[in-house]
Amino acid sequence: MLNLKNAKTFFENGAVNHLHPILKELSAKRVFLVTGKASFKGLHNYQAIRSALSGYSVFHHFEFEVNPNHTDIAAGAAKVNAFNPDVILAIGGGSVMDTAKILSIVPDSKTQIAEIIQSGALPDSAPIPLILIPTTAGSGSECTQFAVVYIGDQKFSLASPSLLPNYCILDPECTWSMPPRLTAISGMDALSQAIESFWAVASTPQSREFSKQSIQLNLSVFKQVVTNPDAASREIMLKASYLAGQAINITKTTAPHAFSYYLTKKYDIPHGQAVGMLLPVFMAYNFVSNDPNINVEELHNRISDLCAALNVTDGESAVNKIKDLMVTGGIYLRFSDLKMTRPSDFEEFFDKVNIQRLGNHPVKVKRDLIDYILQISC
Ligand SMILES: [Fe+2]
Repeated sequence: MLNLKNAKTFFENGAVNHLHPILKELSAKRVFLVTGKASFKGLHNYQAIRSALSGYSVFHHFEFEVNPNHTDIAAGAAKVNAFNPDVILAIGGGSVMDTAKILSIVPDSKTQIAEIIQSGALPDSAPIPLILIPTTAGSGSECTQFAVVYIGDQKFSLASPSLLPNYCILDPECTWSMPPRLTAISGMDALSQAIESFWAVASTPQSREFSKQSIQLNLSVFKQVVTNPDAASREIMLKASYLAGQAINITKTTAPHAFSYYLTKKYDIPHGQAVGMLLPVFMAYNFVSNDPNINVEELHNRISDLCAALNVTDGESAVNKIKDLMVTGGIYLRFSDLKMTRPSDFEEFFDKVNIQRLGNHPVKVKRDLIDYILQISC
């Protein structure tokens, strides 16, 4: 899917300085600012952002959960309606950007928020212009037409070109204040998205090129950006994250993401942590699949291309490489660390995922997946 809004994108250190000219271009006077609770004020370039916003009427919205639910969205939409902004500006990670994306399209709707989320029937156009500024290098949400939202424990992935931003400001300096663990978790999300997109049924030559570049950039700096970041490694990781976003905007994600949401909600672990735990499991699972319904030759070619991108020669080395990155990032968890040890824990884990929605995964995911979890990550 093309970026139908053709978001104007700026990518450079100091790119937040484009904010003021963009607001002028939009003739904006009232800015609805969406950020995280605490992280915003800790940004390295916080003062530059504040001065870009000086002279504007700003409503600062930050009261919502890390994984936003429909009541957060409804409360946010009420604030948007009351404030009547000319533009919505999100400065934050994936949840912040997803919240802002949904808020840019729902306020005018007469339909109840929960109904819109459950039906997935989003308005065709966004009534309020949207500017996205990522402050983590991971979700790639700044360039996707998707937004994740929960109703209770149930996760919904909204999809519509109207969720794309009008402007995207990628300023690596916005990621400088990320602590090592958040850097690792975010980088692992980007890596998982790029890898999943690469093996996705829906992948295309263009999406695989985005994925390959993303994987290679990510791996070239992952350890450095976690342990000893500098301007260059921060910039490269933000680019890797953006490219992974471009890749999944075409393909969507696959089984590691589909299964990760249960772990995040049930065990309250970050999204990138959850996908990072599952990625080695599915790598091993895909590598030895003998599903009679798939084109084995095509799968093996795809896997060997993936191994080349990961700079390893075989599936086992690929699995170990991901685990090694998780250990370096201090985010390596086993399922047993989550106290998932009883057979019933794994049965529930498997049953909670809608297998019908795994059609984009390159091999059929069956109950023997649990054996791989026990083998790889317990
Ligand atoms: Fe993700």
